[in-house]
Amino acid sequence: MAEIIVVANEDEAGEIYAQAVMKLLEKKPNAVLGLATGSSPLKAYEHLAQHVHDKHLDMSQVRGFALDEYVGLEPTHPQSYRSTITRTVVEPLGMNPDLVHVPNGAAETLAHAGADYDRMIEESGGVDIQILGIGADGHIGFNEPGSSLASGTRIKTLTQQTRSDNARFFDDDLDQVPRHAITQGIGTILRAKHLILLAFGDNKAEAIAHSIEGGVSSFWPASALQLHSHATVIVDEAAASKLHNLNYYRWAYENKPEWQEI
Ligand code: GLP
Repeated sequence: MAEIIVVANEDEAGEIYAQAVMKLLEKKPNAVLGLATGSSPLKAYEHLAQHVHDKHLDMSQVRGFALDEYVGLEPTHPQSYRSTITRTVVEPLGMNPDLVHVPNGAAETLAHAGADYDRMIEESGGVDIQILGIGADGHIGFNEPGSSLASGTRIKTLTQQTRSDNARFFDDDLDQVPRHAITQGIGTILRAKHLILLAFGDNKAEAIAHSIEGGVSSFWPASALQLHSHATVIVDEAAASKLHNLNYYRWAYENKPEWQEI
């Protein structure tokens, strides 16, 4: 089972992520970070950037792999995930942009872009810590409900729900939101060594409850975390509100041995 940590707010969650990454970097200065877009990881990146700044850490060898990208947006489009990752992660952390990869949504190479991406991740030695958000329908990356739990990086057709959730980044104009994305598969994500999923707010409560306490099903893609031996789920009270075993998760975290890391 994933470790469930209930926090007061996004800052507390962000600090837990930042501490985990800092510990990793002490041991491995060329660590491989799995990166996600969306609003959920923003505080986590901010906290990490603060530590990097305060401790004058050299991030130039750290490598990164983003989860997904829209198909049909130029990488220079402000809402492409390439631009978003550059703005929210690469620049604030002082990473070398050449070492940060985003799936390639360009039409010419789309047929083999997924397999190429998975090969690149494998050749890097694999993702050490993968940060994840979750969609209201339980999607991770852009693996919409019904995605194979064994899937590799590939094209997915976005649901109308996801498109309308993301319309806020496109002047609330649904027509501007791409219909397809290239996303790391659930099988790809499961190969990362440590998964840290962050979820905040009421609209994530149902997806969290199904994914953590329901059966493993491709119809709740984040339920695949139940198959991973090192997964950490950090939620605020609102996102945790539909979990039945909440008291146990709190009890377990409060009584966690000091030597045990997340
Ligand atoms: C998009 C991204 C996901 C992200 C989800 C939720 O669909 N592809 O990686 O988890 O949005 O975003 P937010 O964190 O803004 O709720």
